[in-house]
Amino acid sequence: MAEHNKEEFLSVSNLEVVYTQARRVVHAVNGVSFKVPKGSTLGLVGETGAGKTTIAKSIMRILPDPPAKILQGEIYLDGENLLNKTENEMLDVRGGKIAMIFQDPMTALNPLITVGDQILEVLLLHNSYSREEGMKRAGEMLETVGIPAERYGEYPHQFSGGMKQRVVIAMALACSPELLLADEPTTALDVTIQAQVLDLINDLKVKFQTSMILITHDLGVIAQTCDNVAVIYAGSIVESGTKEDIFDHPTHPYTNGLFDSLPSMAGEDEMLHPIAGMPPDPTDLPKGCAFSPRCPHAVDACRKGPVPMKEISPGHFCACIRKGGELDG
Ligand SMILES: Nc1ncnc2c1ncn2[C@@H]1O[C@H](COP(=O)(O)OP(=O)(O)OP(=O)(O)O)[C@@H](O)[C@H]1O
Ligand code: SF4
Ligand SMILES: [Mg+2]
Repeated sequence: MAEHNKEEFLSVSNLEVVYTQARRVVHAVNGVSFKVPKGSTLGLVGETGAGKTTIAKSIMRILPDPPAKILQGEIYLDGENLLNKTENEMLDVRGGKIAMIFQDPMTALNPLITVGDQILEVLLLHNSYSREEGMKRAGEMLETVGIPAERYGEYPHQFSGGMKQRVVIAMALACSPELLLADEPTTALDVTIQAQVLDLINDLKVKFQTSMILITHDLGVIAQTCDNVAVIYAGSIVESGTKEDIFDHPTHPYTNGLFDSLPSMAGEDEMLHPIAGMPPDPTDLPKGCAFSPRCPHAVDACRKGPVPMKEISPGHFCACIRKGGELDG
């Protein structure tokens, strides 16, 4: 890979995706742009329905079409435009260069095939291993995620939820993907197992220099794993920056709302402040700032037209007319 591309290993520009059913058009992703440098992790955080999974599936090129349609945008991985690739070319990219850990790990496993053989299948698809070499490598992958290789011949139902998720991660990592899309990898797990899986993801990042997008609605998960953060609301990124920018200087009213709705560290009796109201109807997004119906700082100007991203400090971007501009405050 050319040196100058390192900062733009993955580059998504102006991505727009809709789902059309009958006459309803769901505006799921509305002009999203971001970059993931080589070896770094981007946290994509936002409420349910914000468009997170749709973005990941766009990169994997596994959106169901119909109803999904990419209306515009570019997705470059290591200098190649993924949106111009044929389905055959994408077969090589998937599981080879990019792997995805799906939101529901249980559906990613076949109950009738042993966990070892499921990892083996992925390996054989993308490598010229003999069966024997592949089995050895699959056993090593199990060990990497903390499962003894002797359990190769067991079936998914013989594993706990956390271990199944580890198997899914082993499958995703079996071909040393250069980009890993992890969609809520720990949501289904209890807190202790969650911590173990996050540790594992962090270890693998160091070991394999994997670039990652970690999708979550949980800022705690972001804090433990990510270098950069993009906050997404109603299909648009409303704030992005380094983890420190977002955690130490949250600026967009929606980002602040997310932090205020976190269980306080101060004590169990502290009041939570969930963001009032509901996300907007994606078939009928508000004109102007999509957050305006819920925003405590909204003024008439917020509802007039598109709100552009502004760089409020180097590398820290925010889409709010009242932040970093003349309506500040
Ligand atoms: N197959 C589909 N057909 C129609 N609409 C869809 C489809 N998949 C997703 N959507 C809609 O697109 C929008 C974005 O959904 P998406 O699954 O990307 O959100 P998300 O941020 O991943 O949410 P969650 O946190 O619940 O996983 C939502 O309004 C959703 O209802
Ligand atoms: S643009 Fe207006 S409505 Fe939107 S977040 Fe900023 S203050 Fe709130
Ligand atoms: Mg999702």
